[in-house]
Amino acid sequence: MSQLIDLSGKTALITGGSRGIGAAIVRALAKAGAHCAVNYVTDPAGRNRADADAVIASINVGSDTPTDSAVVIEADIADRAQVARMIDQTVQQLGGIDLLINNAGIIRDRSLRKISDDEWDSVLRVNLSGTFNVIRAATPHLRPGGRIVNLASISGTLGFFGQANYSASKAGVIALTKVAARELARQQITVNAIAPGFIDTEMTRTMPPEALQKFVEQIPLARGGTVDDVANVVLFLCSPLAAYMTGQVLHVDGGFFMGGG
Ligand code: NAI
Repeated sequence: MSQLIDLSGKTALITGGSRGIGAAIVRALAKAGAHCAVNYVTDPAGRNRADADAVIASINVGSDTPTDSAVVIEADIADRAQVARMIDQTVQQLGGIDLLINNAGIIRDRSLRKISDDEWDSVLRVNLSGTFNVIRAATPHLRPGGRIVNLASISGTLGFFGQANYSASKAGVIALTKVAARELARQQITVNAIAPGFIDTEMTRTMPPEALQKFVEQIPLARGGTVDDVANVVLFLCSPLAAYMTGQVLHVDGGFFMGGG
């Protein structure tokens, strides 16, 4: 058997699916047979749209009807009107939503002494309010047995120097995950979060090399993670194998964080 997990017949919306971890999630879900909506946010250079198209092209290789496997949908998750439009388009184009992956996120690191209002507000607006906006708008359309997976971070559990905005936003995502898990359980919708450690993407390439080096030295599995390390755990959470898990935070970090339990 080439594919352990079969998601054929399922539909998925992945926010920020144009690159990095989001793109790997799109590829993993599509390979398992899910019909994916790949959300991207418009940028002045048009790069995100091009990236989203490239992700779709890579998963549609060999398909006779390319647009059947995945679609791209533009929206800034921080903008509630755009989120409402994204959900409408997803439902129209895919016929409903089974799997919602809240992956989009940004980073604007600065120490508490120096952080600007905009650095604080923008990170909270995208990472926390954006996740809330999408969950609230999608919930009426999620089919029973559906799944929500939110991308939190180890920074949301430990709190890292220079990440007041980012850590607070991701701690908020963890709390939001637990509330949503309780509220949606009656519809048999599970809601879980993944807290990655250090994963090699454009987001982490903005970190100073010395800080990165120090981080990797403390990882028991002695390496940074790949985007597929995270996407595989998303795939598991979306599968029948994870049917009895909800309200959990899965750390995908090579053992960096080992909480008490
Ligand atoms: P990335 O920067 O490569 O990708 C983030 C994606 O989100 C991009 O496609 C970007 O266009 C999109 N995005 C940003 N703002 C958006 C908005 N307002 N509306 C819609 N899309 C938007 O980052 P990466 O590393 O792939 O991160 C993905 C998620 O994983 C993020 O939530 C991040 O916080 C989280 N994470 C990443 C870690 C890492 O080590 N790379 C560690 C822990 C968590």
